[in-house]
Amino acid sequence: MGRLLQDLSAALPRLQKAVFSQPIDKLSDSKVILRPVSIKGELRYQAESFRDNKAYHKNYSEAELLSYAEAQLEGRYRQVLIAENTGSSQYNLKQNGSYKKTGSAAALPRPGGSSAHNREKEYILKEGENIPALVDLGVFTKDFKVVRSKYDKYKQINRFVELVAQGFAGEDRDEISILDFGCGKSYLTFILYYYFAEKLKMKTRIIGYDLKKDVVENCEAIARNYGYEGLSFQLADVTKDKLADTHIDMVVTLHACDVATDYALAYAVNRGVKHIFSVPCCQHEINSSIRKGGELDILLEYGIIKERVAALLTDSIRAAVLEDKGYNVDMIEFIDFEHSPKNIMIRARHTGKRRAGGREKAEALRDTYGFKQSLLDLVERDKSPG
Ligand SMILES: C[S@@+](CC[C@H](N)C(=O)[O-])C[C@H]1O[C@@H](n2cnc3c(N)ncnc32)[C@H](O)[C@@H]1O
Repeated sequence: MGRLLQDLSAALPRLQKAVFSQPIDKLSDSKVILRPVSIKGELRYQAESFRDNKAYHKNYSEAELLSYAEAQLEGRYRQVLIAENTGSSQYNLKQNGSYKKTGSAAALPRPGGSSAHNREKEYILKEGENIPALVDLGVFTKDFKVVRSKYDKYKQINRFVELVAQGFAGEDRDEISILDFGCGKSYLTFILYYYFAEKLKMKTRIIGYDLKKDVVENCEAIARNYGYEGLSFQLADVTKDKLADTHIDMVVTLHACDVATDYALAYAVNRGVKHIFSVPCCQHEINSSIRKGGELDILLEYGIIKERVAALLTDSIRAAVLEDKGYNVDMIEFIDFEHSPKNIMIRARHTGKRRAGGREKAEALRDTYGFKQSLLDLVERDKSPG
């Protein structure tokens, strides 16, 4: 057993999750997350593996989990994160197939810990609050406690709603219409509905779009079960299908894959949607099309650097396109890097005041480095005087 598996085995009693990402070959799943789960009162470990935009689940005993990790995971993923109650450690795969520990961090305080009182005050959606849809979605237990393995999700959606609430500060409105692109299991979509419709008592209409028939049907059934009249889910490929043609106040995306984010931003810009809250996910487009050709070639030498540069460039170009079209843009750290490396939120509000210049620079970079970036293709450059 290598060092990584020894550390994983030692971490099991306090494990929150272990994440294996960046597979070395196309045969492996794109990511695997291991978490403790309780099944009929017994401790098991669930492996959630991702392939072709679908998630697959399998449950193991402790011994089975370690055999699975040894046979299927060790040496096949470049990056590994082991998060325990007490802290987390990161590992990188070395050329000889072993892992090097590259970082560790102390844990954040958790509900029930010594600083539970202070943390509770920070959350808009409090543990113990009667939100039955969160029970159906598996985030809350039946007595409205956060399910341990869903704590990161609970934290994410709270943070998202907190940023939305800040973005709407000072707006006096009694109704709102929202589209959620790539809603998936729709934790966020349900919570936004709960926040606006139940907490703020606003007339709320939300449509969640997703490619996956089973999740759309499940979310639709939960929404109907709770009589959430203004909340619906539609099966749609947001890059191709016809989407809502009515007035929309806000577009949200939370980890919508790759260019689905660009299509959401383009929808918002091209229809003058006032508010955008977008947390991008994997960003393959520039990474797979960029070629050397300019003074920044040094950033394209190593895969891992190139991937990060491409992701940051993608979001910078998105901001430039939005600013060119009269949006005021904030780039916000959405969640601690420890919880998700996909942790930038693009928050944009249409003010009509253009910030020119960025878009031209983005196009110049595209021409020099030959990459493709969908938002540049989907939104025309503003021709009005800047
Ligand atoms: C990582 S999940 C995030 C789900 C959810 N927003 C959340 O944060 O829990 C990404 C979702 O985007 C959906 N998706 C990806 N591309 C899409 C597309 N072109 N049209 C609609 N949905 C898409 C996937 O099916 C998946 O459910």
